[in-house]
Amino acid sequence: MMKLDFSNMMESRIGERGISIGAIEYMEHRIKEIDRKLKGDRSEGRLQFMELPYKNVDEIISLANEEATKYENFVLIGIGGSSWGSIALHTALSHPYYNLLPASKRNGRPRFFVIDNCDPDETAGLFDIIDMKKTLVNVVSKSGTTPEPMANFVKCYEMMKRSVGKAYTEHFIITTDEGDGDGVLRRVAEREGIRCLEIPKRVGGRFSVFSPAGLFPAAVSGIDIKEVLNGARHMDEACKKPDIWHNPAYMFAVLEYLAIDKGYNISVLMPYSRKLRHFGNWYMQLWAESLGKEHDRDNNTVNAGSTPLKAIGAADQHSLLQLFNEGPFDKVITFIRVESYENDVSLPAVFRGWNELEYFGGHTLGELMKTEQFATELALTNHRRPNKTIVIPAINAFTVGALMYFFELVTTVMGELLNVNAFDQPGVEEGKRLTYALMGRRGFERERNAIRAKMFEEENKKEKEKSKSLIICFC
Ligand code: PA5
Repeated sequence: MMKLDFSNMMESRIGERGISIGAIEYMEHRIKEIDRKLKGDRSEGRLQFMELPYKNVDEIISLANEEATKYENFVLIGIGGSSWGSIALHTALSHPYYNLLPASKRNGRPRFFVIDNCDPDETAGLFDIIDMKKTLVNVVSKSGTTPEPMANFVKCYEMMKRSVGKAYTEHFIITTDEGDGDGVLRRVAEREGIRCLEIPKRVGGRFSVFSPAGLFPAAVSGIDIKEVLNGARHMDEACKKPDIWHNPAYMFAVLEYLAIDKGYNISVLMPYSRKLRHFGNWYMQLWAESLGKEHDRDNNTVNAGSTPLKAIGAADQHSLLQLFNEGPFDKVITFIRVESYENDVSLPAVFRGWNELEYFGGHTLGELMKTEQFATELALTNHRRPNKTIVIPAINAFTVGALMYFFELVTTVMGELLNVNAFDQPGVEEGKRLTYALMGRRGFERERNAIRAKMFEEENKKEKEKSKSLIICFC
């Protein structure tokens, strides 16, 4: 059983810095309106990400199983919403040292690598350790144009061709927008005869983990993707009630919303599990890109959003917790507490008579982890810091699927509460356009000229004002 415990968010626990029952009650009407709107949007097909858990994934599984037996390495090329979901699933649901296991312990499945940047050291480093002949490359890009994955794709394309000759197409699978979008990847797939998986048109990048973008890489590693979707469907059911007091996604969103109103503009997600560390990154991207918006839906300037931050228990107790406990009152902390770890490590009764070490005897690492989570919760509450806890029985395909769906829903509801479009990302698109312009992509001459004119203008201004240099060179 999963549960959301938000008692430490409340005034009754942390005094006036907390949220009152009255404030939540005040939101009941608003939530009912949002519930009606979202149900309407969904029935009219505007919330396609919510339908993904109901799709048949047999073809994805059979393709993944077939390909998995052929290769030593699987390389995912993608960025943002086209990589974080896969990375999060892999880290949460595969062996912690997956790539270091002998192939037999991976059921003969390939090692899992991701290039989700355009960092030359990382890409070059990967080429040092993989043999292209034994590698399957999955290029994931919804738009099929994003510079970082496209740059890595053209490099891999060239290397693969050089390495395996004509058979290179078999070493690629492209995952991109369905239909006749203007993304070049689809055209490449068609011209070269590369197999293509489709991301449904109305599913945005960061909401695409339950599409082939997230599911195919997971299935290649042998993750039970049907169970991931089962978890998502259960969460869908659990979050259908219009009543805020019985709907965990509505309650979570309202608490975050009311917290922003009280000046808590940093939303920390702190799972007590290393396996959920990339889940934390996935959440950060989802939250930041969906909610950080300059304009609301009525075109008012609102500069909305709260800053997501991932912290990992217990490690970050020794880095961030000091700030959480005693720094500014600007953070809401959400713990993810795991009731039972897949493995536990019993601690021996050694060093008898040595107080600092003997107390471990008879306990386990899992127990220590849970104790530390509870102790941190207590410390934060003592410092009047709002915190809430999602309790999950274990980390498995079901609970991870459920959690991902939960956060997608919460983000959608937050978009409604803040009255922003949670599904666009104009700030990201702008960065992409400027990169195209500066890298000399045809069709972006106007942007390129505008950037040059602006730089020239800045230089002139500096000259005229005889301003101090704003760059300091050192070392
Ligand atoms: O969530 C989003 O829409 C973005 O983060 C995209 O996923 C990211 O920019 C990559 O885009 P694409 O999948 O089109 O390459």
